[in-house]
Amino acid sequence: MVSGNAAAADRPVLLDIDRMTVTYASSRGPVTAVSSLSAKIHDGEFVSVLGPSGCGKSTLLGVVSGLLKPSAGQALLGGIPVKGPRPDVGVVFQRPTLLPWLTVMENVMVPVRTLKLPQKEYAARAEALIEMVGLHRFRNHYPNELSGGMQQRVGIARALVHDPKLLLMDEPFAALDAMTREKMSLELQRIWTDAKKTVLFITHSIPEAVFLSDRILVMSSSPGRVVEDIACDIPRPRNLDTLEEPSFAAACNRLRRLFDAIEVGAQH
Ligand SMILES: Nc1ncnc2c1ncn2[C@@H]1O[C@H](COP(=O)(O)OP(=O)(O)OP(=O)(O)O)[C@@H](O)[C@H]1O
Ligand SMILES: [Mg+2]
Repeated sequence: MVSGNAAAADRPVLLDIDRMTVTYASSRGPVTAVSSLSAKIHDGEFVSVLGPSGCGKSTLLGVVSGLLKPSAGQALLGGIPVKGPRPDVGVVFQRPTLLPWLTVMENVMVPVRTLKLPQKEYAARAEALIEMVGLHRFRNHYPNELSGGMQQRVGIARALVHDPKLLLMDEPFAALDAMTREKMSLELQRIWTDAKKTVLFITHSIPEAVFLSDRILVMSSSPGRVVEDIACDIPRPRNLDTLEEPSFAAACNRLRRLFDAIEVGAQH
């Protein structure tokens, strides 16, 4: 791992998070969740955001997805300020947000209906994505008939169905068992490579971030800011053997030490 990523830096900036501050009004007064946070994500990059619980990761994703208005600063996507949800963005939320009265297939097709895309054409894509997340047998089931992890996998298929350029993922694998998690990490790497997507991926897991990312943004505890921007240059494609490599262990250890330092700093 080195600081700075020459290859990605040559590509145009797709997402520019510019001095973003979000202050929530709460019963105990205003809470500043993120403070003047800046980051640039280049076209085709896979960037993870790592940070302690409550540091503002979901808040950051809320602004980038257009669901939350920042108190100051802005997010620019392709140079245009994000003012609301956009068709070229797919979002996987921290909790599965499926519509209980729709089947798995119908839930995955929601973006197609909302964006008024051709149903027939996209139905085949939805089927393929449901197969990819291992839920083909459950395509006609309702969310309450699925486990939390299965519901989350429906959310992943739904985020990809309209083929968005930018994929925002908020701890998408947190509810999955270890084996499914590993399988989904490999699948996500494949989707990212084949479909040439840009991914902003939030996770609590250091190994997951190191395995998937070109770059890792480390956030401080609240109010959240980016305190480290670390390039992760382990050769691709990465596979299960990557997990055994010394460079992988070294990258994970370096991040663990960084986190310890941040947490010790926050306590003083
Ligand atoms: N709607 C809200 N009203 C008031 N405060 C909020 C609201 N949403 C979040 N917060 C506060 O903002 C801060 C950041 O929350 P956020 O959910 O973005 O953190 P996070 O990094 O995603 O945490 P986790 O890793 O636990 O998911 C926290 O202190 C939280 O209490
Ligand atoms: Mg969160």
